[in-house]
Amino acid sequence: MCGIVGILGREAVADQLVDALKRLEYRGYDSAGVATLEGGKLTRRRAEGKLKNLEKRLRDEPLAGTSGIGHTRWATHGRPTENNAHPHATEQVAVVHNGIIENYRELRAQLEKEGAKFVTQTDTEAVAHLVSREIKKGLSPADAVAATLPQLRGAFALAFLFAGKDDLLIGARKGSPLAIGYGDGEMYLGSDAIALAPFTDTISYLEDGDWVELNHKGAAVHDAGNRAVKRQVLKSSASSVLIDKGNHRHFMAKEIHEQPEVVGHTLAHYLDMANERIDLPKLPFDPANLKRISISACGTAYYAGLVAKYWFERYARLPVEIDVASEFRYREAPMNEGDLAIFVSQSGETADTLASLRYAKEQKQHVVSVVNVPTSTIARESDVVLPTLAGPEIGVASTKAFTCQLAVLACFAIAMGRARGVLSEKQEQELVHALIEVPRHMAQALTLEPQIEALARDLAKCKDVLYLGRGTSYPLALEGALKLKEISYIHAEGYAAGELKHGPIALIDETMPVIVIAPHDRVFEKTVSNMQEVAARGGRIILVTDAKGVAAAPVDSVLTLTLPDVPETITPLIYALPVQLIAYHTAVTIGTDVDQPRNLAKSVTVE
Ligand code: AGP
Repeated sequence: MCGIVGILGREAVADQLVDALKRLEYRGYDSAGVATLEGGKLTRRRAEGKLKNLEKRLRDEPLAGTSGIGHTRWATHGRPTENNAHPHATEQVAVVHNGIIENYRELRAQLEKEGAKFVTQTDTEAVAHLVSREIKKGLSPADAVAATLPQLRGAFALAFLFAGKDDLLIGARKGSPLAIGYGDGEMYLGSDAIALAPFTDTISYLEDGDWVELNHKGAAVHDAGNRAVKRQVLKSSASSVLIDKGNHRHFMAKEIHEQPEVVGHTLAHYLDMANERIDLPKLPFDPANLKRISISACGTAYYAGLVAKYWFERYARLPVEIDVASEFRYREAPMNEGDLAIFVSQSGETADTLASLRYAKEQKQHVVSVVNVPTSTIARESDVVLPTLAGPEIGVASTKAFTCQLAVLACFAIAMGRARGVLSEKQEQELVHALIEVPRHMAQALTLEPQIEALARDLAKCKDVLYLGRGTSYPLALEGALKLKEISYIHAEGYAAGELKHGPIALIDETMPVIVIAPHDRVFEKTVSNMQEVAARGGRIILVTDAKGVAAAPVDSVLTLTLPDVPETITPLIYALPVQLIAYHTAVTIGTDVDQPRNLAKSVTVE
């Protein structure tokens, strides 16, 4: 993830900006830069590589100015060069950005038609030109930003500095977090409390859609409708500031809400955004020679693998065998030398998964692991590591790691399809385009939270819950049941919807809520008939679908959660969010220890 910082100070800010950026290095980056106002003029210093290169640049060419913005960049659009490093600027405005502006190509084409001169390959530069265009029309900086934000599609956080305005910073948040810091006669912006810790422990977090005007005396926050709003002012204690809950009650809530940002960051690691293609690390084997893939993992990571089974079979045309690691490690499965074995693990330390990896290596498999900790044992013993970039996951119930695992596995399956010649370049571009839109759709899915909180108050009274799904929604049914079980202690089961009539339908009565995960995809009609079987027996249906599904579903569900219409490929990533929120709010209603549920450990390093 990129890191953002802004300071309205009383003395030269360049070194303070770099200090704040140092506290954001944990997010990963490949270039950095700062901009300040010297005599009212926007002046920048940027450098490729680590912050020490920027510090050297500042020693060689010091920057004056008491107002400034800074950025650590993880390259998404355009190579990690100095020229592509933020801040990006025109004569009127400098901007730093975290996230993805999906529609930047259309915006850039329109701006170039109007005479704008672009000098970088980044999506961010289009934002600078858009704001400039509004300022040149005579709008104030705040009105120029307010006019620009609705034109941007994607999930992002932004900070702006304006020529001649050394008592003004503007920040905006849509899908990627941004915090306001309150100082003594100084004001700050930062990606999180960690960046602001050297200056203040008094902070507010912007909500999605908010934008804020800062001056030395305070902050004026506006919501997406440009209405003045107040955001809670918190104290971030020094001890917790490194692992910071933000303005969430639990780490699990924060990690659910971080998904648009961290999934966007993970996708950016594997996608060549400009050309809409997958950009995987070089593989030490030729995918065309593979006969079979085996996947092994535990718990939520296993369900990510189960979704990937559908993707590898559909897009790479490879048969996939998948098993929970605790079974796989003892089965002595026969394996053809030179085939591919994939291991999925958030911690990279799960004993069963590690034992299965070692068995696969004895069977001379090519071993690829998808892990959230690149220094973990599983990573170290793999031939290839495909990291998820979810950042530290503190809640025992895995959420953001799961969707980042799905993002990596989707990219891997598509890349394998291309390498095996079974996916065309056009098909790859269509699939990649769908993936690029995931962060925005995730941010939209999170707006269902108030409805889900109300549903959770009912579910909290239940003793048993059934989850149904077909196709790639079937693993989501299993994951939903696991999430509910492990944090609310309510018994729940996930079933393939088509299996209902083979036994589980005996469970259905008016006391049994049935959560049906059914995007309007190729198997939707079949799932509708399963819902009718449930309704005919007085079952209470909670339907998780999209607008097309609502229009087509003939049953009266107790509650319908309507998600955005999205391409079938990405439904598992989007439908994971309501599934996670249902479990979270049910557990909060019951009052269990959401982040540290009874009997559970974050990483099961024993058999
Ligand atoms: C998921 O919410 C659980 N905490 C658990 O099932 C977990 O996914 C499993 O133990 C695997 O852990 P890993 O991803 O670190 O290997």
